[in-house]
Amino acid sequence: MRVLLIGSGGREHALAVGLSNDPSVDFLAAAPGNPGIAQLAELHEVKATDPAAVAALAVELSADLVVIGPEAPLVAGVADAVRAKGIACFGPSAAAARLEGSKAFANEIMAAAGVPTARSFACTSVAEAAAALDELGAPYVVKNDGLAAGKGVVVTDDLEEALIHAEACGKVVIEEFLPGPEVSLFVVTDGTAVAPLMPAQDFKRLLDGDEGPNTGGMGAYAPLDWAPADLVERVLRETVEPTLAEMRKRGTPFAGLLYVGLALTPDGPKVIEFNARFGDPETQVVLALLESPLAGLLHAAATGTLAGHEPLRWSDGAAVTVVVASHNYPGVPRTGDVIEGAERPGVIHAGTARDAGGALVSAGGRVLSVTATGADLTAAREAAYALIEGIRLDGAQFRTDIALRAVEGRITL
Ligand code: AMP
Ligand code: GLY
Repeated sequence: MRVLLIGSGGREHALAVGLSNDPSVDFLAAAPGNPGIAQLAELHEVKATDPAAVAALAVELSADLVVIGPEAPLVAGVADAVRAKGIACFGPSAAAARLEGSKAFANEIMAAAGVPTARSFACTSVAEAAAALDELGAPYVVKNDGLAAGKGVVVTDDLEEALIHAEACGKVVIEEFLPGPEVSLFVVTDGTAVAPLMPAQDFKRLLDGDEGPNTGGMGAYAPLDWAPADLVERVLRETVEPTLAEMRKRGTPFAGLLYVGLALTPDGPKVIEFNARFGDPETQVVLALLESPLAGLLHAAATGTLAGHEPLRWSDGAAVTVVVASHNYPGVPRTGDVIEGAERPGVIHAGTARDAGGALVSAGGRVLSVTATGADLTAAREAAYALIEGIRLDGAQFRTDIALRAVEGRITL
C-alpha cells in the first residue's frame, strides 16, 4: 500500500511510526512533514490546507491511502478533494469536520442526538455572554466558536477574565463547568462501524498541578487503570453511536477519527469536546501500545469496510509521553533555538526544523515529545523522564508530573 500522510506535528510523527511499522505499507510519503518524519517518509512540500494541491500530490504519488492528521485541512475540505480523485482518504468531509470546527454545531448535534454534555449558550455579543455567565455561575467556561488549536478556551473563577475572553473572541460558547477527571477516547469509524482505541489522559495546562494557561496538551498516558470498566462501552452507547447516527441522518456521515473529550462527572461521562482527528499528544501513547497494523485499520475506515476488520490487539504495558515546549509557549513561542539529543528512538518531533547549516532547531510552540513504554505506568513514566534528560533546548518548558497522580493512585471518581 502507498500512503501519503498530511501534517507536520507530533501526532503525525507518531502516525508515521505506526504506518511505517505496518508491513502492508511499501511506500510512505508525508507533506509537509518535519525532520523526525523525514527519517521514516519521503517528504513533499504542500500547503496542507489547499484541497486541490493535496489531491494533486496524492495522484502524482499514486497513493492508495491518504491520512490527514490535523483539523485545518479537514475543515478546508481536503478529504473531499482527495476522495473526488477516487483515492481512499482517512479523515472526515468538511461537512462532518464541523463537529470540531464549530462548537455551536457540535452542541446542536449533541442536543439532537441526546448526548450527555454541558449546558451551553452560543453568544454573539458581550451582553449575551454576560447573561449566560450569570446564569451558569462559576467556574466559568468560555470557548471561542471556531478552531483555535486547543487554545480558545478559558476556564476561570474570575468573571472579569471570562468577560475579557468573550469579548476578544466575538462569537463564543459559554458552558456549564463539568467536574471530574478528563479522558480522551479515540474512535476509528467508517461512519457506521466503530473501532474504539484505548482511552488516554491528556494534560491541558502548562504547569505542574494543572496550573497555568490551557495549551494544546503537555503530556499523556495510557492505559487508565482507574477508569470504570464499562467506560468505553458506555461512551459508545450514549455518545458515539447516537452522534454517528445523527450525522448519517443529516446526509453528512462522519468517517475518520472521532475524538471524544470527556469529563467523568458524578452523573457519568459527559462530552467536553469533539475533535475530528487524532489528539496530540495522546496519539503518541495510544499508538505506542497498539499492536494491530495501523494502515490496515485506517484503510478499512476509509473504505467502509471496518465491520469486517479483526479486533484490535494491544500490548500489556503502559505508555507515557511528555511534551517539551519552547520558551514563552503557549504565548508567541521563541523559535530558532538549537536542539540537542532529539535524534533518538522515542523522541517524537513536532515544532522542529533544520537551519541553513543542517542543525536541528525549534520551530514552534510544542517542539517535541518524549514517548516511552514500560511494563507498567511507573516504568513507562521513569523511562520517559530518563529520555527527557538527554534533550537540550534553551528555554525548554515541560511538566514534571505527567501520569504522576495515576501512578500514586490519587485519581478518584
Ligand atoms: P477544549 O478546547 O474544548 O478541549 O477545552 C480545553 C480544556 O478546557 C479541556 O480539556 C478542559 O480541561 C477545559 N474545559 C473545556 N470545557 C469544559 C467544561 N465544560 N467543564 C470543565 N472544563 C472544561
Ligand atoms: N490533546 C488535545 C487535542 O489534541 O486537542
